[in-house]
Amino acid sequence: MAFNVAVVGATGNVGREMLSILAERAFPVAKVHAVASERSAGAEVSFGETTILKVEDLDRFDFKGIDIALFSPGAKVSAVHAPRAAKAGAIVIDNTSQFRMDKDVPLVVPEVNPQAIAMMEKRGIIANPNCSTIQMVVALKPLHDIARVKRVVVATYQSVSGAGREAMDELFTQTRGIYVNDPMKHERFTKQIAFNCIPHIDIFMDEGSTKEEWKMAAETRKILDGDIAVTATCVRVPVFIGHAEAVNVEFERPISDTEARNALKAAPGVIVIDHRNDEGYVTPAEAAGEDAVYVSRIRRDPTVPHGLNLWVVADNLRKGAALNAVQIAEVLARDHLAAGQRRRSAG
Ligand SMILES: NC(=O)c1ccc[n+]([C@@H]2O[C@H](COP(=O)([O-])OP(=O)(O)OC[C@H]3O[C@@H](n4cnc5c(N)ncnc54)[C@H](OP(=O)(O)O)[C@@H]3O)[C@@H](O)[C@H]2O)c1
Repeated sequence: MAFNVAVVGATGNVGREMLSILAERAFPVAKVHAVASERSAGAEVSFGETTILKVEDLDRFDFKGIDIALFSPGAKVSAVHAPRAAKAGAIVIDNTSQFRMDKDVPLVVPEVNPQAIAMMEKRGIIANPNCSTIQMVVALKPLHDIARVKRVVVATYQSVSGAGREAMDELFTQTRGIYVNDPMKHERFTKQIAFNCIPHIDIFMDEGSTKEEWKMAAETRKILDGDIAVTATCVRVPVFIGHAEAVNVEFERPISDTEARNALKAAPGVIVIDHRNDEGYVTPAEAAGEDAVYVSRIRRDPTVPHGLNLWVVADNLRKGAALNAVQIAEVLARDHLAAGQRRRSAG
């Protein structure tokens, strides 16, 4: 069985990655549509090594006959067009923050809560979590199963690609500009990002956290366990691709660093690289282009009864966004749509 797929936001960082991962993993497509704004209608994007797709304008795009629509055009655009696609019979997998906390929309990381996908029946929409949340819950899940996570204190080191194509250009332009004495301009970031770190991702909330920090807490509870306390500090760093996280975890029950290392080694989607030497840990530059969530620096936190520290790194455009979305599509295709392509006939 093959599926008609639309990739909405196909010219962006996440959309391009979705097209390449669909091709790499040989997702069973009948036809793929690349969709973006009117600005890029008619432009060309690659699907795999040999296929070129012409970009179609979202405002004019008819979702009738589309089985799966992978969305990453920004929250405001998804708010309008994802329900329109679902109404036409497509199942939407949305990468934006628009529907993540909607109680009728499942928020899914396939290694953690694939069973939640069944809940998509209600609105025809499945939400992909925030990039920082995804890599953290993939690492926490096997540890939670053994010793129950009670509290997490996390500091993130997030790459500029998490803020889109133009943000990557801004880091490049500022970095070059510093060497040739060009005046410093910042548009996508609140301050200079080249040779700097910015503890401000998304808007400030009333109690002083940023929305990115709030998302990590709220999304972790929705995906993994409603009782877990999470406090985050999210920082943008001058790295192009790959997010890193220093994660301190407090557990209800005892867990040694050896037990944690063994559980993580056996967990789906995780690769443990953890040796106490110069090569014994993974950095964002090494994780870029890779599918796994890498866990390094696993060690006991002696300041609490049952505590561990971890260093967690992943490619934010792949596992943090596009790969996770395609993995959801794979479960959907295998377990939910294959038996009669329900939504299409319902539409
Ligand atoms: N980057 C990440 O790590 C990451 C992770 C998780 C979630 N997300 C979310 O995914 C979304 C996209 O991120 P990105 O990094 O891919 O951004 P991006 O590189 O800036 O790309 C944005 C895409 O959305 C399209 N778009 C913008 N306005 C549109 C409109 N009015 N109608 C149709 N298409 C429109 C753009 O098309 P044009 O070329 O025509 O402008 C482009 O294809 C954001 O909501 C982001 O929060 C990103």
